[in-house]
Amino acid sequence: MSKTIGILTAGGDSPGLNAAIRGVGKAVHGAYGMRIIGFRDGFRGLAENRTLPLEGDSLSGILTIGGTILGTSRDKPHRMPMEGEVRDMTEVIVRNYQAHQLDALVCLGGGGTQKNALRLKQAGLNVLTLPKTIDNDVALTDTTLGFDTALGIATEAIDRLHSTAHSHHRIVVVEIMGHRAGWLALGAGLAGGADAILIPEIHYRMDPVVEVILQRVQRGRNFSIVAVAEGAVSMEEAAERQALESQAQNAESKTERKKARNKLARMEAQRPDHTRRLAQQLEARSGLESRLTILGHLQRGGTPSATDRLLATRLGSACATLIAEGVHGVMVAARGDGVEAVPLEEVAGRRKLVPLDHPWIESARRVGTCLGD
Ligand code: F6P
Repeated sequence: MSKTIGILTAGGDSPGLNAAIRGVGKAVHGAYGMRIIGFRDGFRGLAENRTLPLEGDSLSGILTIGGTILGTSRDKPHRMPMEGEVRDMTEVIVRNYQAHQLDALVCLGGGGTQKNALRLKQAGLNVLTLPKTIDNDVALTDTTLGFDTALGIATEAIDRLHSTAHSHHRIVVVEIMGHRAGWLALGAGLAGGADAILIPEIHYRMDPVVEVILQRVQRGRNFSIVAVAEGAVSMEEAAERQALESQAQNAESKTERKKARNKLARMEAQRPDHTRRLAQQLEARSGLESRLTILGHLQRGGTPSATDRLLATRLGSACATLIAEGVHGVMVAARGDGVEAVPLEEVAGRRKLVPLDHPWIESARRVGTCLGD
């Protein structure tokens, strides 16, 4: 009897998801004669048994389309809001998997999805994952689906911001996605020739950023571009956070612990405004007018780049081959020109941050880009 495969997309969307769904679907069906069923809106659709047939022509014409035809959500199998309460839906998911007589479930997602997939593996399901996120922070894979497209979008944005910054003699601060990892801000900042790049991995000080802007003014270049990752943190903020975290951990009284936790929560609540405040401080300290551009979800939208389409087709079709060979419990990682099956236990819970000696960091320093340290 031929095998039946389920597939879903989870977490934030990213360009290349449809190309990957197509890659898996066409290969499982065409090369291995298996059936494939899509589940809508991530793990929620699997829990609620909402499917999308992926037979016939449904996989044609989606290679170039952004987003995901399956829909996505950030729902976790073991903590899913359902009818006003948060429930563990793992058993329901297992039952639905069995009801569809699935032989394997393919989950396309980022770091959170790897953890959720491991949980489902531990619940007895045959799970495989494909790494996707524009943040490029999934461990043990060279790259992730969507990163290259987002890098292109953010780089083009910096190119366009250059001409307006130049015309108005302004500082343009551009906020680029990436809460924990700075791959996108660093890559786009370097490719777009930003004068300063601030990423979460390097806690920054204002002084060197102001200095680089003023040095440029002295050289007659009275405009600057500052690329800032969403999660960039100043040295002061990092130190304050660390102190509060240790206070919360080591507090002797409940009141003290609560006080530290409340302060931490207040800091977190102010986070979304971080880049705006940074732009204002740069204006105040440099004497140049500043403007802020937040690229936001633009970076996740639209048609995937050729590189992402190739990656999606490579990983997706290799995933089909692994399923045909009876392999599961793995992430199909990009390794050089090929793929590697990485056990979910090794990838779940790990994050790939920018190493401080990464060639992009070293090149940035060599060309005189300020990294805020
Ligand atoms: O998927 C990763 C990511 O794009 C991050 O870069 C960003 O911080 C986050 O998702 C935004 O999430 P949401 O779409 O849920 O607002």
